[in-house]
Amino acid sequence: MKLPKKVTVKEVGPRDGLQNEKERVATEDKIAWIDSLSETGVSYIEVSSFVHPKWIPQLADAAEVLKAIKRKKGVTYAALVPNIRGLDRALEVDVDEVSIFMSASEGHNRSNINKSIEETYPILGEVVKEAKQAGKRVRGYVSTVIACPYDGPVSPSQVRTVADQLFSMGIDELSLGETIGVAVPTQVEQLLDELLLHFDSEKLAMHFHDTRGTALANIVKSLEMGITIFDSSLGGLGGCPYAKGASGNVATDDLVYMLHELGIETGIDFQSLMKSGQLIETALGKQLKSRQMDILRAEGRGEYLE
Ligand code: HMG
Ligand code: MG
Repeated sequence: MKLPKKVTVKEVGPRDGLQNEKERVATEDKIAWIDSLSETGVSYIEVSSFVHPKWIPQLADAAEVLKAIKRKKGVTYAALVPNIRGLDRALEVDVDEVSIFMSASEGHNRSNINKSIEETYPILGEVVKEAKQAGKRVRGYVSTVIACPYDGPVSPSQVRTVADQLFSMGIDELSLGETIGVAVPTQVEQLLDELLLHFDSEKLAMHFHDTRGTALANIVKSLEMGITIFDSSLGGLGGCPYAKGASGNVATDDLVYMLHELGIETGIDFQSLMKSGQLIETALGKQLKSRQMDILRAEGRGEYLE
């Protein structure tokens, strides 16, 4: 198996995880959790999102969180931004990087951001332009890269069309969102076969939700195809509020366990990661669903926290 020596794990739990939790996490608990994530060795944290607070009330405190967290040198603190109003709010609190987002399918794009795909391009184009003028790196997301909960299967060429548009706006990196967690490795291969003909592997990230337990298998396929950036949520928190039935992201702890056992460096300290998982588990008042958290609970204090 041909595998990279090193990968970047991007922790999206504070945004993708918490946006879909019914229980509101207190702002001070979010801040404490993000501060603990900063101590794990992770180099990128998606902290929150500057979307309409009525659409995602769980993240209405984005500005307070960004203002209060301790920013550790070497860590990028990013947030989602859907439009210029969101960008202005994010720039006011000096976010390090902004993430714009849209879908490869009409149905999900409409339900998630209330616009058609065509209507979305100029809005995001403006955000990229202004974010760049403000000196920020911009990440793009394209959702529903394999299937859409409203429109069904999505072809690799549909994804490529949106990817082309986003890269031509000037994004630095594109994260491919398998929003509803239905993919299997052969589908990931077909998608990447198409995209890698046109875009550098270093500019692509994979964002797998783990609804049906296939995320790690899909990550192994992606690694074999040269992808080295993966999004994940500690403990497998999360989902997409506008994709019914979508469950959390692949769990950071399960991903890091597998990568380390494969001999791939992440820069993340596993024990600190598990401690940070316990912190958000306590704040949420419910058990996180990852395998590593299960083991930790089964072993009482757990082997990791000696
Ligand atoms: P809209 O209602 O069409 O917005 O929502 P609008 O532009 O027509 O504006 C309506 C009002 O909202 C105006 O106020 C705006 O100022 C205000 P009024 O003039 O009526 O008083 N407004 C805002 N206020 C605060 N912050 C803003 C903002 N924008 C407008 N940013 C909108 C359009 C995009 C705003 C809305 O649909 C929205 O917020 N959607 C966000 C949905 C979301 O966050 N989904 C989850 C994240 S995506 C995801 O999880 C997928 C991903 O993980 C990858 C994967 O898994 O596939 C990334
Ligand atoms: Mg997601």
